[in-house]
Amino acid sequence: MKKNIGPDPNTIYPIKNYDKLVFLKNFIKASNIVVGEYTYFDDRRHGPEKFEEYNVLYNYDFSKVKLIIGKFCAIAAETRFIMTGNHKLDAISTYPFPVFQEGWENAFDIFGLPVRGDVVVGNDVWFGYDSLIMPGVKIGHGAIIGTRAVVVKDVPPYSVVAGNPGKVVKQRFDDATIARLLRIAWWDWDIEKINKHLSLICGLDIDRLEAVSVE
Ligand SMILES: CC(C)(COP(=O)(O)OP(=O)(O)OC[C@H]1O[C@@H](n2cnc3c(N)ncnc32)[C@H](O)[C@@H]1OP(=O)(O)O)[C@@H](O)C(=O)NCCC(=O)NCCS
Repeated sequence: MKKNIGPDPNTIYPIKNYDKLVFLKNFIKASNIVVGEYTYFDDRRHGPEKFEEYNVLYNYDFSKVKLIIGKFCAIAAETRFIMTGNHKLDAISTYPFPVFQEGWENAFDIFGLPVRGDVVVGNDVWFGYDSLIMPGVKIGHGAIIGTRAVVVKDVPPYSVVAGNPGKVVKQRFDDATIARLLRIAWWDWDIEKINKHLSLICGLDIDRLEAVSVE
């Protein structure tokens, strides 16, 4: 008898006969990008293998920021993460003279430009089509990012963000339930336990989910 159900997280294309969706961690080469198990990316235009090239933008070596994405996230096509790339804001000109060298390198210290820190995405986050995540944004567990949202501020757990600038349009559960879900943190269970209680994870009976979480 098969011990586990569900796909192996090391599978590149987890859906049979469909090569437009990948378990993303298997395609990450950059040392500053970390993606958790079972997080998938679906892209029919460029091919999902091109995530680092087309979907993580302005990811310069010198900026030293990371993109950290949790487990069980669903990332729709055209979702993009802007890692850095601000020009100089506290000056008369924003033009990046030093980039071109030839004597312009001393205009100002381009490596000293402020950065907004890591982009951090929790677990079980769903990104709708063509959402854009700005530098330094932190997205809580269980959040939903609506189609074409431009996320400029941190996103609380289990909230739904939409629009430009992205705003919380609803909370998926009340505060007390969200606190319980964050304690349960089903995504951190071992996969056998997740498999055993899939119907609870995909349902709404928080009492029972909480009860099995301490088993
Ligand atoms: C965000 C989303 C999940 C919200 O769905 P929902 O919970 O059913 O929410 P509602 O449709 O009730 O919308 C709530 C409010 O947000 C607004 N809203 C919803 N999605 C929005 C979006 N993408 N952009 C701007 N506003 C949006 C609605 O107009 C509504 O506003 P109102 O309260 O002023 O009337 C859904 O609209 C969405 O964007 N899904 C992503 C679909 C997708 O891209 N799939 C890709 C393949 S997986």
